Amino acid sequence: MIDLEAELAELRRRGLHRSTRLVSGPQGPQVLVDGRPVLLLCSNNYLGFAEHPRVREAAADAALRWGVGAGASRLVSGTMTIHDRLERRLAEFIGSEACVLFGAGYLANVGVVSALAPGGSTVFSDALNHASIIDGCRLAGAQTFIYEHCDLDHLAWGLRRAKGGLVVTDAVFSMDGDVAPLAAIVELAGRHGARVVVDEAHAIGALGPGGRGAVAEAGLEGSVDAVIGTLGKALGSYGAFVCASSVLVEYLVNRARTLIFSTAPSPPAIAGALAALELLSEQPRRVEKLQANAAAMRAELLGAGVPVGGGRTQILPLIVGAADTAVALSGAALERGAFVQAIRPPSVAEDRSRLRLTVMASHTASDLRRGADAIAAAAHQIGVSFRGDAPSAPTTAMIGHAA
Ligand SMILES: Cc1ncc(COP(=O)(O)O)c(C=O)c1O
Repeated sequence: MIDLEAELAELRRRGLHRSTRLVSGPQGPQVLVDGRPVLLLCSNNYLGFAEHPRVREAAADAALRWGVGAGASRLVSGTMTIHDRLERRLAEFIGSEACVLFGAGYLANVGVVSALAPGGSTVFSDALNHASIIDGCRLAGAQTFIYEHCDLDHLAWGLRRAKGGLVVTDAVFSMDGDVAPLAAIVELAGRHGARVVVDEAHAIGALGPGGRGAVAEAGLEGSVDAVIGTLGKALGSYGAFVCASSVLVEYLVNRARTLIFSTAPSPPAIAGALAALELLSEQPRRVEKLQANAAAMRAELLGAGVPVGGGRTQILPLIVGAADTAVALSGAALERGAFVQAIRPPSVAEDRSRLRLTVMASHTASDLRRGADAIAAAAHQIGVSFRGDAPSAPTTAMIGHAA
């Protein structure tokens, strides 16, 4: 039997113990942490939709019209009209034949990867893919080939040795903020008869024309087999979707265990996401503002002497190395009014702990400057040096798949 106290003590000893902070108020640019107002620099509410009045109203109205819960899996108690409406709208937005909703991005990835990678096949997974893809690989009957982060030669080497299979990648890597080389991945997979699934969790609302994601940005609409997106980040709600051909969606309805054996997402969450999607098409400038804020924050940090990696997206990794250093830096930044979470193993490789800073379209220029100054002062206070621009962590990052 596992000794819980001993396990927790060991996590503490290694600087890997986790607990959550109590935050008051919605996920806006500022929140109250322990009753004190601080800048929020670690939320994925990228476009400010989670607290937008129209999104709130849509969710409240849906609760009154359809109730709070969906009652059961849709295969048991049916598809509610609000789910059907969002699926049609998302298929239009992504430019796919069909769409199906899942309870969360985690469930979508686990369900899709395990359903599309049966025994006897191979799933090719980037070393820095999200934990939910890793767990999908574990649940799948297939062999997993982990290719080094964004390493096309390594992927090609693996594809040559297998007959077909499934390539799965984050579009924007969740802890590093860099963008997968999607065009080359699609070309390689096509040459070797493999399917491609792209997880657009951090790209929807952040990249591409009208925020349609990295696949659209690369001009690859219709060239990947499935686009997975979450409703819980830029769309400000909760739940997820898979956009694909009608036959692939029909297959998932029959084979994706996390869809079949789980209650459908709640009507208020779905209606909220639908309202957010409408706002996104009415106000595409929010995406430009997010991108401008990401660039401005990079400039502020560099100006304050904090090297930042990760390329061009709204996710800025400030890599410090040791887990306890990341925790100390996060604490010192919070004391100075900036809430930026420390990310440690197993979310990242052993020697690559970091602050994962995210900007939102709703941050002002002065928010960004104050945030950068707070982090720089905190780093100076505790004598931290940063690792600079090194988004990839090859071989050791495979630990993520094994952890
Ligand atoms: C790349 C990626 N995929 C999937 C997920 C899971 O999405 P959700 O939070 O909707 O479960 C996350 C979020 O943490 C993520 O970063």
